[in-house]
Amino acid sequence: MVAMNGSYHGKSFGSLSLTFSPKYRKSFGPLVEKVSFSPFGDIETLRSTVNADTGFIILEPIQGESGIHVAPDGFLQDVRKLCDEKGILLIFDEIQSGLGRTGKMWAGEHWNTTPDIMCLAKGIAGGVPMGATLVRPDILACISKGEQSSTFGGNPLSCAAGTATIQALTQDRLVENATKMGNKFREGLDRLKEKHRIIREIRGKGLMIGVEMKFEVKDILFDGITNGILFLYSGKNILRLLPPLVISESDIDKTLEVLDAVLDREEKRRNV
Ligand SMILES: Cc1ncc(COP(=O)(O)O)c(C=O)c1O
Repeated sequence: MVAMNGSYHGKSFGSLSLTFSPKYRKSFGPLVEKVSFSPFGDIETLRSTVNADTGFIILEPIQGESGIHVAPDGFLQDVRKLCDEKGILLIFDEIQSGLGRTGKMWAGEHWNTTPDIMCLAKGIAGGVPMGATLVRPDILACISKGEQSSTFGGNPLSCAAGTATIQALTQDRLVENATKMGNKFREGLDRLKEKHRIIREIRGKGLMIGVEMKFEVKDILFDGITNGILFLYSGKNILRLLPPLVISESDIDKTLEVLDAVLDREEKRRNV
């Protein structure tokens, strides 16, 4: 099994074994054996990491938890080619990046790359707990009915919420909205970067945006909450912006206005 440096796939035993950060892993060893990690975006190292026993390569097309790192152009296509050459399954974890968040239904579409297996959750039922694993039919044929069931699996409430969410995504054109609002957000953030020296870098696609700061963002988070905006973080110095896909232009204007004032205060506090 090969996963990427910086990966986050969850905290249950199997997914934790594929999650990179020692911070999450350290209390739960021993984890599943025979997992290797390879730098995200580096096809040559990945090529030398796989061997005849490699069953799958798993990656997030845009790494979320580790700070919104977008796969470099060409990387996903190269990984797909490597998997096809060597008979390795390719798994995309689109739990954070999928279902329209990046302006495409699946983030892998930005690079025209289709995995063999795809993991989905988070946005899939609009906040009601649900997860799904999509697999190619020939892979599905390897397990029989009932082998992958669970108490709450397939429960009617989550399935109804999932159906309604997918309908809203398509009928209300929320994927297109993610592109449009993402571009507007990005333009505004780029303007803030010109003005505020504590912003180091802005990256992402659609409504999956990371704003890396030169300092810890803890005070920015609290200041945001006090002023009605709930920012998320990644590590100590990255703000993660994952707004709902229904966000409007005026919500973005308001967010940028609050962030501008929050950054002014932060710069004063830090004397920059
Ligand atoms: C890419 C990705 N995979 C999986 C998960 C699921 O993680 P958890 O088991 O902590 O809910 C997350 C949650 O942040 C995620 O971002």
